[in-house]
Amino acid sequence: MPTGAAIRCDRIWRGARLATLAPGRPGLGVVQDGLVAARDGRLLYAGPAAEAPAFDAPRIEDCAGRWITPGLIDCHTHLVYGGDRADEFEQRLSGVPYEAIARAGGGIVSTMRATRAASEADLVAAALQRLDALIAEGVTTIEIKSGYGLELETELRQLAAARALGAARPITVTTTFLGAHALPPEANGDADAYVDRLIAEMLPAVAGAGLADAVDAFCEAIAFSPDQVARVFAAAKALGLPVKLHADQLSNLSGAALAARFGALSADHLEHTDAAGVAAMAQAGTVAVLLPGAYYFIRETKAPPVDLLRAAGVPMALATDCNPGTAPLTSLLLTMNMGATLFRLTVDECLAGVTREAARALGLQERIGTLEAGKACDLAIWDIERPAELVYRMGFNPLHARIRSGR
Ligand code: NIG
Ligand code: FE
Repeated sequence: MPTGAAIRCDRIWRGARLATLAPGRPGLGVVQDGLVAARDGRLLYAGPAAEAPAFDAPRIEDCAGRWITPGLIDCHTHLVYGGDRADEFEQRLSGVPYEAIARAGGGIVSTMRATRAASEADLVAAALQRLDALIAEGVTTIEIKSGYGLELETELRQLAAARALGAARPITVTTTFLGAHALPPEANGDADAYVDRLIAEMLPAVAGAGLADAVDAFCEAIAFSPDQVARVFAAAKALGLPVKLHADQLSNLSGAALAARFGALSADHLEHTDAAGVAAMAQAGTVAVLLPGAYYFIRETKAPPVDLLRAAGVPMALATDCNPGTAPLTSLLLTMNMGATLFRLTVDECLAGVTREAARALGLQERIGTLEAGKACDLAIWDIERPAELVYRMGFNPLHARIRSGR
């Protein structure tokens, strides 16, 4: 490297093939002989070596033709919870439906009991095992929801545990308050009164503590009605918090359109979403977060309307939905394989779904999700010959190195 006029940086990766995912480049934004330069945790350059300015760095890595993608982003998880639901899994194997288990006081409420009984340290320790599995596959940003406390103190503890995970590991954590996930038993079936309390007490406390980056809700017959969700969303927006929605997972309550009406960052699941819902999302710029792991695990048979979403130009993200009830899944690589196999997404859509579009689903598209100058230097470096291998293989991890904020 020439010195003199060379631009000083901290680290250079050369001899790499890049999937930049940069908008404006076709497909994955592939660069065959690529160079990446970083300073102070940010990308100074990511593109063809032949077009790069002269850089000078104390650390230069030769990638020997390996592929570099943006660090992966898991934009929908319920990573922090107590206990597990292996017993309910066995019930479902013998034919009991997910909704029947929930109505009988199991499901989300059984995890609520275990989560209420857990300390913050317990929650962090249990979640770290799951987080480490994701990190081992190149995940550099994760969204984590609350929603297993269903009362203020435990919801705050879950969110604090999520934030603590971001301090315990080199990963960016965004947190989402999901107080409207299920009705706790002490609400005695009065969902409206619970939503009143959520709006009057829980939301302001969570926002005041600065523990949530967004607000989510579960809009479903076994959870909250569209009217109740609309009240939660109006309150969230009044506090300046963006919203997202578990929409149309088990039935069509027009959740996608409801999310779009509130300018939601994302509407997630969408198995039962109709054409009107898709059109509303396209209009609002709401990202579709598809969760094939939950679809697979509860043996859903209706797939989300991928053709409609694609035709309408709705950005599609993919996430694990990691949770104890419907997706005990800690692999974004397997999630991509499921997205392709079960939902017929293309390889390019799968990879964009766990990088560029996942960033958009979190409102972080200016900061992460592509290899572009100015964005965070979050990289996954892979021992593969072509990007399709990341989607094609099952239960195999070709990660060579993971870089977060340039380190
Ligand atoms: O995303 N749909 C609601 N929430 C979770 C399931 C939570 C649970 O069963 O514990 C989901 O699938
Ligand atoms: Fe979920």
